[in-house]
Amino acid sequence: MNTLIYKQNDENGITETAQILKNGGIAAIPTETVYGLAANALDPEAVKKIFAAKGRPQDNPLIVHISEFDEIYPLVKFVPESAKVLAERFWPGPLTIILPKSGIIPDAVSAGLDTVAVRMPSHPIANKIIKAAGVPLAAPSANSSGLPSPTRVEHVIDDMMGKIDAIVDGGECDIGVESTVITLAGSVPRLLRPGGVTLEELRDVLGEVEVDPAVTDKLKENAVAASPGMKYKHYAPKAQVYIVKGTLPSFRCFTDYEKQDGDYAVCFDGEEDKIKIPCISYGKESSAKTQAHRLFAILRQTDKLGAKRVFVRCPSLKGVGLAVYNRLIRAAAFRVITLPEIWGITGQTGAGKTSVSQALAQKGVYVIDCDQTARRITEKGSPVLKTLADAFGGDILLPNGELDRKALAKKAFCSEEGEKLLNSITHPAITRLVRDEIMQNRDSYSLFAIDAALLFESELYDYCTKTIVVTADEKIRLERIMTRDGISEEEAVMRINAQKSEGYYIGKADAVIKNNGGEIDLAELF
Ligand code: TXA
Ligand code: MG
Repeated sequence: MNTLIYKQNDENGITETAQILKNGGIAAIPTETVYGLAANALDPEAVKKIFAAKGRPQDNPLIVHISEFDEIYPLVKFVPESAKVLAERFWPGPLTIILPKSGIIPDAVSAGLDTVAVRMPSHPIANKIIKAAGVPLAAPSANSSGLPSPTRVEHVIDDMMGKIDAIVDGGECDIGVESTVITLAGSVPRLLRPGGVTLEELRDVLGEVEVDPAVTDKLKENAVAASPGMKYKHYAPKAQVYIVKGTLPSFRCFTDYEKQDGDYAVCFDGEEDKIKIPCISYGKESSAKTQAHRLFAILRQTDKLGAKRVFVRCPSLKGVGLAVYNRLIRAAAFRVITLPEIWGITGQTGAGKTSVSQALAQKGVYVIDCDQTARRITEKGSPVLKTLADAFGGDILLPNGELDRKALAKKAFCSEEGEKLLNSITHPAITRLVRDEIMQNRDSYSLFAIDAALLFESELYDYCTKTIVVTADEKIRLERIMTRDGISEEEAVMRINAQKSEGYYIGKADAVIKNNGGEIDLAELF
């Protein structure tokens, strides 16, 4: 089939497309939400062509588009007050209202249901085409069934070229996700699909509005879908999409751990340089409207990039965010990963971090002691130990080949350069091991704490949502390290002096815990 394409601002496009529709043809037209694939809603043969071009299941009903409020009357059995109030506030615009249908709605449109969905789009081209056609237009989104809805004319061309009579270019769709669908056919208004008109706005006008469980969750097996469209796999690119809930630091830990060729992250503006897999931003974290506007184009872009897995930072579920989440959860085939929180515990030597860690562990927190991790990476025969011996000399090894910790400490901790060298060798290996341990246990724990003397100097700092600095008076710290490590006062002073000041630690802390001994109070952490 030859598909005519009418360029933006080509006035002929409107009249000729209207003619095509009057004659029983089908055409893609722009709306403020997404592009629609339109046909005369009162002509069952024309409507059937839509299902064929999209490959749409027959039991998924279509929305009927009108250009004036009064055009609703012939389509429905009656117009309740609530529909009038909604139309007054939100039409023309991204809201679809479901009501009991009249006899003129063909079964092909309502897919055998006794209701019909009606919407008055605000896009001037859509409005003009409906008017010029002189009939209500049935129009689902103009994508191949299952793919993301088209928000740019290129998307429509990709999916529909050669399958439909015409495509009208109206530029980029403003809202980017399909209309909000509400049914007024039951006793209480019920939201079936969130969109540009938000749940909060609907409640503001109507009072009580129920939310269909399919909005955010997978339908139970054998459950009947209130909105048939909700039961199908939808909006899905070829890549496996995952919604990832959690903070940016946890997301960073997660993507560093998962990292494979073909992975992409969909993140919020400004996060790109903090994530080490290729990123596409879908807007500010606080701007659900931008996320909605860009979402489908980004999902299609991941296909063009050949993405295999796409990890999406979870949007807020408020306002238009609910619509973004609703589309994403379907694109992700309901795969949601919930990441744990990660805290970092640090402080000067002898400040008593270990006791704080133990207190947290007693509260069910999974604590990772980086001293122990450091021991594991420097076990006899390990590559890290070999590198250390090359850097600091063979006398840091005991005759049996094990690490002589005291000898290494003596060489490394007496100067800043020595410490830097030690860290550059050990930190990457420690970070990897800690990251693995957190990610391998993430399903069993919601909170991890990393106990690390050099947290702020290590990459682990980037994984922490909260940092806790433990402090103690200098005299107490001195006594503690002399007893703990069996060293002289002189050596203890040297170690303390080689470290950064207390002020440095406190300046970077989200919380400070003083630990001069006695019971540890964790209350302010939770
Ligand atoms: O923004 C939009 O609504 C776009 C533009 C083109 O107007 N259209 C659109 O249509 O998204 P479509 O077919 O992709 O989605 C219509 C949704 C489907 O989930 C369908 O199951 C539901 O509305 N729906 C239609 N009629 C219904 C009815 N009588 N009862 C329950 N759900 C209905
Ligand atoms: Mg659709």
